[in-house]
Amino acid sequence: MDHPLVLRGTHPKSVAAIKFTSAACTAFLQWALPRLGLRWAGFRRVRGQVCKRLRRRLATLELADLAAYRNRLDQETEEWKILDRLCRITISRFYRNRGVFDHLRAEVLPALCQDLRQTGERHLRCLSLGCGGGEEPYTIGIIWRLELAPRCPGMTLEILATDNDPGSLARAAHGCYSAGSLRDLPLQWRVAAFDLQDGVQCLRSEFRREVAFLEQDLREEIPFGPFHLVLCRNLVFTYFDEDGQRRIVKDLATRMPPGAILLLGKHERLPPDGTGFETVSAHLAIYKRA
Ligand SMILES: C[S@@+](CC[C@H](N)C(=O)[O-])C[C@H]1O[C@@H](n2cnc3c(N)ncnc32)[C@H](O)[C@@H]1O
Repeated sequence: MDHPLVLRGTHPKSVAAIKFTSAACTAFLQWALPRLGLRWAGFRRVRGQVCKRLRRRLATLELADLAAYRNRLDQETEEWKILDRLCRITISRFYRNRGVFDHLRAEVLPALCQDLRQTGERHLRCLSLGCGGGEEPYTIGIIWRLELAPRCPGMTLEILATDNDPGSLARAAHGCYSAGSLRDLPLQWRVAAFDLQDGVQCLRSEFRREVAFLEQDLREEIPFGPFHLVLCRNLVFTYFDEDGQRRIVKDLATRMPPGAILLLGKHERLPPDGTGFETVSAHLAIYKRA
């Protein structure tokens, strides 16, 4: 066993001292991601962010390079959980992909309201998976309160939003955002829904009422539902491998009644065949439970 006072090899302590090339980081991710049920293609664009976090992790562990980190992963299964967290991408913003939310507000939500009313249902239930800092579920809440509620009298909206990142959920609970997070939100809604406090835009309390947050890893559990609208955007169908995608689609299908709407990220698609969903708009990545 090493004596604790005997230093072996190099032990860099600052992030600047950790040297690995972008190519080495790519090779490492191409090895590690499939072992986490994730896919390299999804991470290609955001690899810089993950490599930066890896550099910090190596500095904390006082490891010289990614080969040493691979050894650590071979020896300590707990380190895989930390690596999984390092691979979490948390980018989001309000009204992300305007065309999608424009369509949701003009077509999808009014049609859902009408369908539900015909069945005597009074609650429109929405699930936002991988909800980030709340930007996505709050966007639905804003659309509802400012546009849909007056057109759907007697109907209430309930939004359940889940994420496995405690930091993101804390931001969601705080409800205050930089101007950049709001840049896609139509101006009149920004004015109606936010107050400027200490240089940040804080969502007014009446726009938070419909949304409840829950810390959950969707690989392990998904709320039971039933849900009439599910947003699963820029997570599963970008970063998960095909097995993971199929498992989640199957789980979602059990929580959505026929006619319920599933919304993916604008550039995401369901895996082909046998998903139990039909395409409403391929271009906007909107699907309907068959
Ligand atoms: C790229 S953000 C997308 C946020 C939002 N859906 C959007 O499209 O703007 C992905 C979110 O999924 C969360 N996430 C990642 N892995 C998750 C998992 N296994 N279970 C639940 N949430 C997860 C991250 O913490 C992050 O907030």
